[in-house]
Amino acid sequence: MRRIAFINEKGGSCKTTLAVNVAAYMADHGSRVLLVDLDPQGQAGKSLGFFVRDMSPTVHDVLVDPTVEARAAIRPSHVERLDVIVSNKRLADFPVEVASHPDRERKLAGKLQAVTGYDFIIYDSPPSMGLIVTNVMLATEEIVVPVNLTFFALDGCAEIVESVEDIRARFGKQDLEIILVVPTLYRSTKMADEIVSKLKIHFPTKTARTVIGYNVKIDEAQSHGKTIWEYSSWSRGAYMLESLAKEILALEV
Ligand SMILES: Nc1ncnc2c1ncn2[C@@H]1O[C@H](COP(=O)(O)OP(=O)(O)OP(=O)(O)O)[C@@H](O)[C@H]1O
Ligand SMILES: [Mg+2]
Repeated sequence: MRRIAFINEKGGSCKTTLAVNVAAYMADHGSRVLLVDLDPQGQAGKSLGFFVRDMSPTVHDVLVDPTVEARAAIRPSHVERLDVIVSNKRLADFPVEVASHPDRERKLAGKLQAVTGYDFIIYDSPPSMGLIVTNVMLATEEIVVPVNLTFFALDGCAEIVESVEDIRARFGKQDLEIILVVPTLYRSTKMADEIVSKLKIHFPTKTARTVIGYNVKIDEAQSHGKTIWEYSSWSRGAYMLESLAKEILALEV
């Protein structure tokens, strides 16, 4: 089983879009996939058409309630072979609720240990670095960093590299690795090209060949609770997301 987390503390860098569509691509091509939303915004579930606001149990219950097993929060999505653990804004209380627990960083890893039968577990994460992302990092081996090509993009990357090093050192999790840095929301401007060049200098072996350009079909698909392949399978958006999913599949570790 491969575990892959989409992480960037920058908001709007396409974490959710890539996590949901890559998960759906893997499922469409025969893999059994569990998508786990770790963002209080709950947008991974929303992208698949769930009304997450009043749902229960969610990932929050799994993390804070010792009597709720991860299995109990797993739901099938409308995409065959793609299951989901949804999130909603109650997850925002998690860091405070477990502040005094000695195992607070390992809650997610602990609960997901009992989950078997999947080829992939894919995590969506919130736009911040903190206890939730630490939990994600301790429950995954692979990290994909989507990077929205704006001036401060490289700051976000530096932050993640530092966090990965910190988790490796503090928890001895040597198998934690950034596998891919993915330029997103690319538009053909001098600025965007310069930032892509800088990414390639900082991550010479890890910058994705696939650059995710702006395509409105991607946004529209999410607003309809559909994957890009359900909504517009011949769009440029579908082509770019397929190319990325294939690149991740080829990185089999
Ligand atoms: N390639 C694209 N073309 C057009 N719109 C896109 C593209 N990728 C993502 N979007 C849209 O941009 C918005 C932000 O994307 P997304 O929610 O995936 O980012 P995020 O990193 O998960 O944000 P947050 O940090 O708030 O969780 C969404 O409305 C999404 O539909
Ligand atoms: Mg998101």
